[in-house]
Amino acid sequence: MTVPAFPETKVALKGRKGLIVGIANDQSIAWGCAKAFRALGAELAVTYLNERAKKHVEPLAKELEASIFMPLDVNTEGQTEQVFERIGKEWGQLDFLLHSIAFSPKEALHGRVVDVERDGFLKTMEVSCWSFMRMAHLAEPLMKNGGTLFTMTYYGSQMVVKNYNVMGVAKAALEASVRYIAAELGPKGIRVHAISPGPLATRAASGIPEFDELMDKAQTTAPTRSLVSIDDVGAATAFLALDGAKLITGGVMYIDGGYHIID
Ligand SMILES: NC(=O)c1ccc[n+]([C@@H]2O[C@H](COP(=O)([O-])OP(=O)(O)OC[C@H]3O[C@@H](n4cnc5c(N)ncnc54)[C@H](O)[C@@H]3O)[C@@H](O)[C@H]2O)c1
Repeated sequence: MTVPAFPETKVALKGRKGLIVGIANDQSIAWGCAKAFRALGAELAVTYLNERAKKHVEPLAKELEASIFMPLDVNTEGQTEQVFERIGKEWGQLDFLLHSIAFSPKEALHGRVVDVERDGFLKTMEVSCWSFMRMAHLAEPLMKNGGTLFTMTYYGSQMVVKNYNVMGVAKAALEASVRYIAAELGPKGIRVHAISPGPLATRAASGIPEFDELMDKAQTTAPTRSLVSIDDVGAATAFLALDGAKLITGGVMYIDGGYHIID
């Protein structure tokens, strides 16, 4: 029996429009995902954090032929709304959203959870969790034909991972928001996924002490004995945006070589 080549998958996202939030450079997980969406034919909108980040993100947005390129700092009042307003005006619809951002002030992230101050906690939760909830709220009216919402999480939400600290608390809340939003928006054909990659050496990861040890442990312990790449994360994430994945929603998709099943 010959295996079908599924040539149609090469253009499976042709005509679909997606917003990518979280590209900082060519090591960002969001960049790996954006490349995969684009390779399947999707049209993309790309945001950058601020003027300083713009020069790193602009060449990547050009490579993706992004038709919308604009600033988005979720701490800046009104900026998230502006992005969705522009998408509404120019595209009139949105088919998928990738939320791939997180932040915690150093003093909150580097201390024990039991010592975290209110400001540090609220800032961590605002950028790493609430911003996803808000984007889902703003995306809902634009996803007239259904759609897919993605956010990035990590295993430190489920287990105590050394040095992950308050970010683990935020990711647990983020994963819970994925379940609730999936239940709320499911009847409209909107699916919601938390993507949980194994450790990757990105700018955000450089803020976590002893990250190299975490990578070594992942590599030696994961059933596949390998680290994941941003392209691995991109391919699996893009799969979930396909029509063939339309009945998968609300879960945490581990892209970690199976690390999470090992004690
Ligand atoms: N690197 C890892 O090992 C790993 C593993 C699992 C999950 N994640 C998650 O993946 C996501 C992407 O991180 P990454 O590893 O690609 O690092 P990254 O540094 O490339 O991306 C983080 C992004 O967050 C953005 N950001 C931070 N504060 C923001 C704000 N106020 N407004 C808008 N954007 C803001 C940054 O501009 C950057 O683009 C994060 O949610 C992270 O927690 C990372």
